[in-house]
Amino acid sequence: MAGHDHKRRQFLQYAAFGTVAAALPSFVLAEDGKIKSVPSASFKPDVEFEITARISEVSIIPGAHTTVFKYHGKLLRGPKNALKTMPGYLGPILNLSQNQKVRIFFYNELPEPSVIHMHGMHVPQRMDGHPVYAIERGERYVYEFEVKNPAGTNWYHSHTHGMTATQVYRGLAGLITITDEQEQKLELPSGVYDIPITIQDRRFTASNQLQYLHGMRERMVGFLGDTILVNGQANSTIPVKTRAYRLRILNGSNSRIYKLGWEDGTQLIAIGTDGGLLESPETYPYIMLAPAERIELWVDFSGRKVGSDLVLNSLEYQVTMPHMGGGMQGGRGRMGRGMGMMNGGLLQGEAFPIIKFHIAERVDDSPKLPEKLVSMRSLTERDISNPDRTVPIDIGMQHMSPQLNGRSFEMHEVMDIERIPVNTIQRIRISNNHGMMGDGSGGMRGRGGMMMSMAHPIHLHGQQFKVLSRTQTDRDSDGYNTVKDGFISNGWKDTVLVMPGEEIEIIKPFEDYTGLFLYHCHNLEHEDMGMMRNFYVH
Ligand code: C2O
Ligand code: CU
Ligand code: CU
Repeated sequence: MAGHDHKRRQFLQYAAFGTVAAALPSFVLAEDGKIKSVPSASFKPDVEFEITARISEVSIIPGAHTTVFKYHGKLLRGPKNALKTMPGYLGPILNLSQNQKVRIFFYNELPEPSVIHMHGMHVPQRMDGHPVYAIERGERYVYEFEVKNPAGTNWYHSHTHGMTATQVYRGLAGLITITDEQEQKLELPSGVYDIPITIQDRRFTASNQLQYLHGMRERMVGFLGDTILVNGQANSTIPVKTRAYRLRILNGSNSRIYKLGWEDGTQLIAIGTDGGLLESPETYPYIMLAPAERIELWVDFSGRKVGSDLVLNSLEYQVTMPHMGGGMQGGRGRMGRGMGMMNGGLLQGEAFPIIKFHIAERVDDSPKLPEKLVSMRSLTERDISNPDRTVPIDIGMQHMSPQLNGRSFEMHEVMDIERIPVNTIQRIRISNNHGMMGDGSGGMRGRGGMMMSMAHPIHLHGQQFKVLSRTQTDRDSDGYNTVKDGFISNGWKDTVLVMPGEEIEIIKPFEDYTGLFLYHCHNLEHEDMGMMRNFYVH
């Protein structure tokens, strides 16, 4: 109870924290002890949604319905296509445009606290879904923000303290698309030729209920399911015509990393990354997609035979996995798709099909891939506000808990190195190499070595960043060769996969908004175990 009051005090304190010039919804503590946030009178929304999180029964695999947590959406104001309802457990797709003013009334009808995070969006602290703003059952939270991001694909998901992994696992996630003028001029495939693909792995019981992981060991690795879902459905086949399509792919999994590749070896054509479109299309033999990352692909089915299929696979790669002992690594069961729980399951790095495109109809007309896409703000080392200072993000481990910069998450704790002056551009160095460097810090070996030998998708809230460099410090990393050609370094990113032994430098603006902005591992089990910290922008 004291904890509860404390939380509320903290909430109200933070409600006042991180002020910006713009008007924001305010918070009131009602007589019944409930937090009500009220819309600001001066904010005139162009588009307004109601999103309610509630326990629901949905159909995912044939047979019995599955009990999930689902965001139910309703469009209260704005263009008709601003909200697209999804089958299964995913929340509706919110289709936004740049400069639009958006208001979301979020109602929590779950039997536990929850909060929505706008992943990838450049919004004020209070609109970003920091866990300090989680609301209890029956409470409401009002989000109001202007869309500053360029055209691209972002998403929203639960970010509840210690419960992000389980809440997202049970369904609390949805896509956000953004369009802008630059994008519209390109006349990229749109409407039914623009396909959202959210990839997630899940595990089901014999009665079709979602099964989460068991015990500490599985938690250390992160949840890995044996059934691949696309847009919340198993065994997905999408019928297509012989023409070009735009695919917006999100890895919405808790911890599984996909190595995307076409089954017939066709090269992948990337047109966008986490934060929006690329300057020009880029070709890859395969693309690594870690949890929370997005990739936009151009795929042209022209010339393919009607009746044939093209499968998007996850290809085999090697990750250095800890020795789990016991039965977990035993019985490398193939696939196990739709077979419910089984011993072994689908390991990280194992090959499997993700989705099948069935060429169903012949058409003679197809848009052409533009040579140039969008022009974007250039960000180079010369733009760094304080070249002598590099902000560290050191991946570490102590007493069985994964950490960043030697600390576990504390709701509002900020170290000196985590204080960032507003309206600056920072160089940040993310290191996953302490084990190899032998820097003598305790806890980095032994069990720590296991964390060190894992890949971690590191995500930063707030503005999108760019990758400056990737350095592999471990010379004998065989596994690295199985993934290294699948990283895209040119586009806007908010999440970057840091392989064992890797050091990645990024450049990131911290503009417009002050307050607390999280950075964390987007392996959601790691996040919940405390592999998360705050930046305080001031
Ligand atoms: Cu998608 Cu803080 O996360
Ligand atoms: Cu985020
Ligand atoms: Cu991690």
